[in-house]
Order: sequence, then C-alpha cells, then structure tokens
Amino acid sequence: MSGRILIIGACGQIGTELTLKLREIYGEDKVIASDIREGAEELMQSGTFIKADAKNKEQLENIIRENQIKDVYLMAAMLSATAEKAPMQAWDLNMNSLFHVLNFAKEGLINKIFWPSSIAVFGPSTPKDATPQTTVMEPTTVYGISKLTGERWCEYYYNKFGVDVRSIRYPGIISYKTLPGGGTTDYAIDIFHEAVKTRKYTSFLAKDAALPMMFMDDAIKATIEIMQAPEENIHIRSSYNLAAISFTPEILAGEIKKHFSDFEINYDPDFRQKIAESWPSSIDDSAARKDWGWQHDYDLEKMTDIMIEGVEHRLQEKA
Ligand code: SER
Repeated sequence: MSGRILIIGACGQIGTELTLKLREIYGEDKVIASDIREGAEELMQSGTFIKADAKNKEQLENIIRENQIKDVYLMAAMLSATAEKAPMQAWDLNMNSLFHVLNFAKEGLINKIFWPSSIAVFGPSTPKDATPQTTVMEPTTVYGISKLTGERWCEYYYNKFGVDVRSIRYPGIISYKTLPGGGTTDYAIDIFHEAVKTRKYTSFLAKDAALPMMFMDDAIKATIEIMQAPEENIHIRSSYNLAAISFTPEILAGEIKKHFSDFEINYDPDFRQKIAESWPSSIDDSAARKDWGWQHDYDLEKMTDIMIEGVEHRLQEKA
C-alpha cells in the first residue's frame, strides 16, 4: 500500500481498536492516530499520535500533507445520548468533520474514506424487524439526523465527484478495552462491568428493548474488509446495513447469569429508552453479505464469554 492511513477520532471506543488492528496489518509507521485528546496507554504507545480537532480543516490538511496520507477513517462523532444534550455541537462535529474529509478526497488529496453511519438513521416509522437496506428513514435523534444527512452527502460525493467513500451502519458495538462515549446501546457494556464488580445492574433501557448489537472484533473486521474490497464490489455508497446479533437487556442478563448465578438486574428506563424504541430490533444486512462477503463470527454466547473474561482481566490489571 502506498501512502499512509489516518484515523481521526483514534482514541474513542472503536477508533482505539481499529488503530491497533490497522497497525498490526499495515505496520506501525503506516498508521497515524489523531484525536482531540490522548487515549489509552496501549494505543498511545503503539505508534504516532497527533493531536487534532476533527472540526479544524487546516489541522487535518497539515497532517494529511505532512504524512502522505491516502486513506482516512473518520471515527470522530458525538453519539446519540450525548448529542441530545448538545445538539448544535453534535451537528457541528458530525457534519463538518465529514465535509472536510469528503472535500480532501474531491480535491485529490486523499484516495479513500471510511465513515461510519449507524442504526440511528432509522426512526419510529421504519419497519422494526429485519430492517431492510432501503426503507423509510425518519430519524428522531440529532445523531440519527446527522448520520442520515452524512449518508446522503457520501453518496452525492461519489456520484458527482467519484469520491471513494465507504460506509457501514454500525449497530451497538460491545467491547471491553475502551469505554464507549454516550450511546444508547452502552448499557450492554456497563452491564458487564457491574456484573463482574458487584453482581448487580440497573438498566437504563427497559427489559424488552431489543436492539441490533455486535462484538467489537466483528465491527473491526467489517470496517477493514469493506475498505479492502475491490472498488467494483461496493455498490452502495450511502451506507451498508450490518448485523450480527440482536438481544434485549433481559436476554443479555440471562446469558450473564450462566456465568454468575447470583447476578441481579433491575430496570429504570430513562430518556434513552425513547431513543431505543425509535430504532430497529434487528437488521437485514444481506447486501453487505452479497457485495463484499460480510460474515460475523461472534454470537451472544461467545461474546458474553469474552466480555466477562476481558472485563475481569482489566480489573485485575488495575488492582
Ligand atoms: N451505539 C450508538 C449509540 O447508541 C448507535 O450507533 O448512539
């Protein structure tokens, strides 16, 4: 591969593990990490880090020029719950960072872009089960509106200017290495930390709030595979539906009880329940499977085993 890779938002939940994986594949000197703040020690020690604000076009342009960047993964974003509390900042970050990167590609400065979309692009009027790739989309959250708008712009830049932008609608991503930042699906991570530490958890979603979810390793695999796929295989330039597993807090708690029989769960839904209710319960991702061979590896059981082991291990390291 000629040229280097830049990950913007490298210190976030997905950015951290994506950066580590890309460095493993392409070599540490090929992958530049950037974020507005420093991240986990493992990430900071794994290669070059440059502090930058994803909203600042000049800063990004300098990094790209100085490091011969050819591929950009734009992972910086304000997620659903946080965005509801700061709508204008969320819009500013989620949209302007995307425009900067799309315009760099339009101007020929970079070759390829990965930009994540989300299940948040769907809304209450969308069919809830096995939500199709193409369907009614009337998102009711600031985050969802920004992601749907972003999808339209990605497709526009591809059609109009030939920009090679590739995108996935991530479901809730579950991991233990870096904590997530302000999403509606975060309960499915918090629950593991509390189960390991206290054997109790109070869920901010109702027990029957079914949402599409995915273990981090699957999300990273999908991200890298869509970027590696031959250009002619990418038929959707807005964003691909992507799925692995779907479950409710009650089902997840049942799985955790197989490890800790004394685990107790309570439910105290807050404003995030309404967001969850507006999103699909499960996703039809057949287009991703057909076009670039997507396959997930982790089911609920396997994910639960690894999460418990991972969270326990991290706690022991801290002790
Ligand atoms: N995990 C995200 C959120 O809950 C969905 O993309 O905001």
